[in-house]
Amino acid sequence: MCGITGYIGEQQATPVLLEGLKKLEYRGYDSAGIALQTGQGVVVCKEKGRIADLTKMVDLNVQSTAGIGHTRWATHGVPDRKNSHPHQSQSGRFTLVHNGVIENYLQLQRDYLQEVEMISDTDTEVIVQLIEKLSSEEVSTEAAFRKALTLLHGSYAIAMLDEQDPDTLYIAKNRSPLLVGVGADCRVVASDAMAMLQVTDQFIELHDEEMVLLRKDEVKIFTLGGERMERALYTAQLDQSDLEKGTYPHYMLKEMDEQPTVIRKIVDAYSNESGKLSIDSKVLQAFKGADRLYIIAAGTSYHAGLIGKQYFEKFAGIPVEVHISSEFGYNMPLLSKKPLFLFITQSGETADSRQVLVKVKALGYPTVTLTNVQGSTLSRESDHTLLLHAGPEIAVASTKAYVAQVAVLAICAYACGESDLELKKELSIAANAIQTVLDSKEDVRKVVEETLTDTRNAFFIGRNLDFYVSLEGALKLKEISYIQAEGFAGGELKHGTIALIEEGTPVFALATQRDVSPNIRGNVKEVTARGAKTSIFSIEGIQEEGDRFVLPHVHELLTPLVAVIPFQLISYYAALQRECDVDQPRNLAKSVTVE
Ligand code: AGP
Ligand code: GLU
Repeated sequence: MCGITGYIGEQQATPVLLEGLKKLEYRGYDSAGIALQTGQGVVVCKEKGRIADLTKMVDLNVQSTAGIGHTRWATHGVPDRKNSHPHQSQSGRFTLVHNGVIENYLQLQRDYLQEVEMISDTDTEVIVQLIEKLSSEEVSTEAAFRKALTLLHGSYAIAMLDEQDPDTLYIAKNRSPLLVGVGADCRVVASDAMAMLQVTDQFIELHDEEMVLLRKDEVKIFTLGGERMERALYTAQLDQSDLEKGTYPHYMLKEMDEQPTVIRKIVDAYSNESGKLSIDSKVLQAFKGADRLYIIAAGTSYHAGLIGKQYFEKFAGIPVEVHISSEFGYNMPLLSKKPLFLFITQSGETADSRQVLVKVKALGYPTVTLTNVQGSTLSRESDHTLLLHAGPEIAVASTKAYVAQVAVLAICAYACGESDLELKKELSIAANAIQTVLDSKEDVRKVVEETLTDTRNAFFIGRNLDFYVSLEGALKLKEISYIQAEGFAGGELKHGTIALIEEGTPVFALATQRDVSPNIRGNVKEVTARGAKTSIFSIEGIQEEGDRFVLPHVHELLTPLVAVIPFQLISYYAALQRECDVDQPRNLAKSVTVE
């Protein structure tokens, strides 16, 4: 959460910083700000709201070739101007942006900053005030910066300006993502490479507990112990056009439309020379060597994990437990003798999942990360990485990454077993089926008009795999339309929650699983009898008269890939109907880098 940009070079800094922030807005959008070295001091411009609001406020006549920028997802202090980054030290000498959480900020305040009057409620301000305090005791800003960093407990990506040293950006990283970029006539820093592709595709990875002195033609990396580190550049494999909306009104719509292509790309990427689906032999060994797989994930990725469990158990006979990452790390169950941990994370940066990775690594267990972002924190820190090949997902609500997760999980499980299913063919049928559903957008829009216009809440129900898709459908609707929605196992509703069904309550039921189709239809009858407005989403082969939407036939195990599509579309059209911000829903951020 929070996006950081920084520029030092020959060109004007403001346009680069603002353009970069626009690309990082998915990380948080409570407030935004920039700070510029002007030769006559540092100028700060910041405000509550979006980058577009900041852009209107910024004075483009201010000449500056060095600056830092920030887009915030508040953790400490309400999203207002005073809590917006950049924050300045008491004298105004130091100006700093931060992504992360400083756990001991109150202690630091008590120990070092009793006499300093804090302006904001943030943990971040403590860092910049502490650096100013230490700068009076240390011989250089570099030394004060280092000393302050050694006192911080928690996560941080930091970029700082010193008014008295306009030729340097001070950078540091611990547990929050940050990269340095090397351009022809500049050096840059950003939370994500995509923010700086406008300037360069050459980047340097930073490790935890490192600090960097960045000048326009120099990158000096140090450990906090003062040891100088050398590190090679890598080329960011990102296509600028993947990052644009093109003619689409929203990233979410573009990303939903990309789903058939994503499945085809995955099939290509996971096909070996003889055209068979396969995964890296080392990863295969890791899976096969485990007596139990522990899938760890959050949100939508957790929902994909629930489906992955079915695949590993059915295709490969490997027992699986699926856990919510924020719970697992602090309430670990009794583990099997030879566990393998599989982290599912679109961003590869989720702090909740990472804390589990750190813990299980310390216990010596093998780890695999399934992610969309090569080089992301969890990908770097786990033993093996499996990629989603979904292309950048910008909309906060995950769509194509979920479908990619389900598809790659199916391929992995399949590669570990000896199923006689023709998975490659079945995935390509699923890709076509997704396309058919996407082509029926108007019909789904009508479902929304019929059911969700005036409602405060909605239910998604299903059994077996359909239950897991219902959880995802409900999450999507909550996230972007703010309608209170619950995903439920169809049979469980009558054990209490059915009390919430009133005249007109929308209930969306999935009926794609042959064995339990009569049961879920029975559950629909129960809620219909109590006044619910029900819509059944079934599948060719087991459809019945009156079903609201019939999905094209796909293999029964692959139905989640297709069944989720109308639910994604329902949430999209419900959000549009309510004039909600589809791509950047309130209170959320794409990459959740705090616990
Ligand atoms: C998805 O729509 C959500 N925005 C959210 O639940 C997300 O899936 C979750 O935060 C996990 O993110 P990750 O996959 O990047 O780890
Ligand atoms: N803790 C800082 C704040 O609340 C940064 C937040 C973040 O990175 O998510 O302003």
